Amino acid sequence: MPSNDFVLGLKCRVCGKLYPKAANFYCPDDHAPLEVAYDYEKVKPHVSRAKFASRPRNMWRYRELLPLDGEPTVGPQVGGTPLVRADRLADALGVERLWIKNDAVNFPTLSFKDRVVSVALSKAREFGMRMVGCASTGNLANSVAALGASAGLETVILVPADLEKTKIYGTAIYGAKVVKVSGTYDQVNRLCTQIVMEYGWGFVNVNLRPFYAEGSKTVGFEIAEDLGWRFPQHVVCPMAGGALIGKIYKAFNELHATGIVDQPVTTKMYGAQASGCNPISDCVKSNRERHKPVKTPNTICKSLAIGDPADGYFAANLIRSTGGWAEDVSDPEIVDAMQLLAKTEGIFAETAGGTTLAVARKLIESGRIPRDEEIVICVTGNGLKTQDAVFEALEEPATIKPSLAEFKALAGLSQPAAEPVLA
Ligand SMILES: Cc1ncc(COP(=O)(O)O)c(C=O)c1O
Ligand SMILES: [Zn+2]
Repeated sequence: MPSNDFVLGLKCRVCGKLYPKAANFYCPDDHAPLEVAYDYEKVKPHVSRAKFASRPRNMWRYRELLPLDGEPTVGPQVGGTPLVRADRLADALGVERLWIKNDAVNFPTLSFKDRVVSVALSKAREFGMRMVGCASTGNLANSVAALGASAGLETVILVPADLEKTKIYGTAIYGAKVVKVSGTYDQVNRLCTQIVMEYGWGFVNVNLRPFYAEGSKTVGFEIAEDLGWRFPQHVVCPMAGGALIGKIYKAFNELHATGIVDQPVTTKMYGAQASGCNPISDCVKSNRERHKPVKTPNTICKSLAIGDPADGYFAANLIRSTGGWAEDVSDPEIVDAMQLLAKTEGIFAETAGGTTLAVARKLIESGRIPRDEEIVICVTGNGLKTQDAVFEALEEPATIKPSLAEFKALAGLSQPAAEPVLA
């Protein structure tokens, strides 16, 4: 296996101590999480806009800034999702320049999680692991099961028992061993950590987490490239564990550090949560240093329902340091925003997308995000997976007999015509 000289190792996010590139995930000195550290001066001569553009349009075009030692062996087609200029939604919100980063159409399982999983599982294979898994609020489960199957890995997936059926069966279909745990996500996650400690299996969001989280940076790389190698002024991002928001920002900084984008990063980052599980937004809004865990999440937005987020502290700090903000919204606001996005832009996002748009709307209306500046809203998952959330809000379509007269009557086009008389 060739080694990646650009990666310095895994660095403690609190004390800065450097550890070897292995399936390590926390610093024994302070129990803080580790993250992949790169030597950007070494990367610099090996990257350019032209080099990225010459490669296929997927997340691996930025491979010098990802932590694999060899070629990706899992998920080689992941990423490259559209950045959609959303003028009709912009009109509805009363803003001038708005884009949707649409990971609802990410390959293969229709959420941004395919990005993190393809890095984590490619890394798991480099480590020689055969058994992989995760604790999940749904999307990660789908992705580990699908990409694990495509790589011939054994997968075991633990989820809270009250998860949407679509997400449970959309995991089992790939042949994964799915275990429903009667408890919250945090309890599921604790159990997974015990499993990892006992068996050493590759759990993508536990012992592979430093590598896994790096995959989220590719959302940021793609946003900057699609804007013509610029950074937007405002990014609104959903938060569960709190990793994605930080990694988008890390991506912008890496593009600057490696000379791909001269412009320094001044983007303000905004975090979105549901009010029924809002540990990070509450932490930001109440100006507390650390989040208070939410013991019993209660929201239709199950994908973001992590009561004690692993990266909560870092996400809240990042939001504050960029001059952004965080907000949370009620379930009816989430459903309303899912409909607004679908009706204006033809994009059916899952509840997390509804949450993010509803938060963006709230931040625009309160004046936190100026109406005349560039805004990117991150849609990270597909509405087909959370259809139950919108059923009640939608009118049941009328049923008619296969008759033109009935159709006309229903459509109110004109009075039903008399039966044509044959000559
Ligand atoms: C659709 C969706 N969006 C966003 C997130 C949040 O990601 P993170 O845990 O990195 O904050 C998740 C996490 O499960 C998710 O499923
Ligand atoms: Zn440390």
